[in-house]
Amino acid sequence: MQTIINKNIKQAATYLKVGEVVAIPTETVYGLAANAFNANAVTKIFEAKNRPFFDPLIVHTHAIEEVYKLVEEIPPQLLALAQKYWPGPLTLLLPKKDIIPDIVTAGLPLVGIRIPLQNDTLQLLQLLEFPLAAPSANPFGYVSPTSAKHVFDQLQGKIPYILDGGECNVGLESTIVGMQNNVVTIFRIGGLSIEAIEEIVGKVNINIHQGDNPAAPGMLSAHYATHKPIIVGNIFKNSLKYNASKIGIISFKNQFLDIDTKYCYTLSVSGNLTEAAQRLFAAMRNLDNSEIDVILAEEFPNEGLGKAINDRLKRASYKRS
Ligand code: TXA
Ligand code: MG
Repeated sequence: MQTIINKNIKQAATYLKVGEVVAIPTETVYGLAANAFNANAVTKIFEAKNRPFFDPLIVHTHAIEEVYKLVEEIPPQLLALAQKYWPGPLTLLLPKKDIIPDIVTAGLPLVGIRIPLQNDTLQLLQLLEFPLAAPSANPFGYVSPTSAKHVFDQLQGKIPYILDGGECNVGLESTIVGMQNNVVTIFRIGGLSIEAIEEIVGKVNINIHQGDNPAAPGMLSAHYATHKPIIVGNIFKNSLKYNASKIGIISFKNQFLDIDTKYCYTLSVSGNLTEAAQRLFAAMRNLDNSEIDVILAEEFPNEGLGKAINDRLKRASYKRS
């Protein structure tokens, strides 16, 4: 199959209407989308990504009125979050209506829903008479794509069309929020900070899955991983164990000029966590594709988007450090 990369929203819509999968830009990461009402089309997403069927998909739409067609209710606190942060990097877990096929939610009674903040994709969603189920557009377990080229590099030949909307502005997957025992609970840290959520609903619970049990799917310990090992910790100290030419570095604002490597990705010289988050996944991919042997990363400040950056680095380094 030939894979076309283009900016033509109508063409993307045409593929989706006939049950094909299309990679779409969002502000978080690129998604691999199909008609969420069409179980056959959704199956193609799992095949292209090599994704296990126990891992549920997020459904994307363009307006809160549309969400009510998909779910039984939106609890008041989650509605307050939706009103404040949609469109944006927030996914809500809500009780699904039967119109959503079981394959989308891996048989679970809740469906993850999100309105993305990306103009091309919002226009695309408006052209369609169905919402789009879309996981991140990477092979299962790998780093999420933040450009059309990232998608092409890995999925060419497996999907017909990539809608090119440029680089993702946020660069980290959405924050996943739901209710648990009547308390607002965060199930995945992501592109909307915990602080921003607590501003609206007060103190939240955090229930981030760690371990190998896929009961909280997509939150496996080893995820978002490069092929090359990533070691998180004191970069200078860790660098002493390797030949400098074999080291790639991901740092926050320190440039580590004393380590003789040409592969140092300093994600934000000005110390801005939003900028760092936006650049993280591209740095991981570029290092993975370079001739180094090991990626040394440091722990980021444990606040705002720094928490999500640390979460991704930790999962990417799992079993190795
Ligand atoms: O930013 C994002 O969320 C991106 C863009 C494309 O929207 N999507 C994304 O999807 O990151 P994905 O498939 O890579 O991650 C979806 C994760 C699942 O692995 C699971 O952890 C959680 O969302 N999820 C989805 N539906 C769920 C459900 N019904 N119950 C529990 N967790 C769910
Ligand atoms: Mg993913």
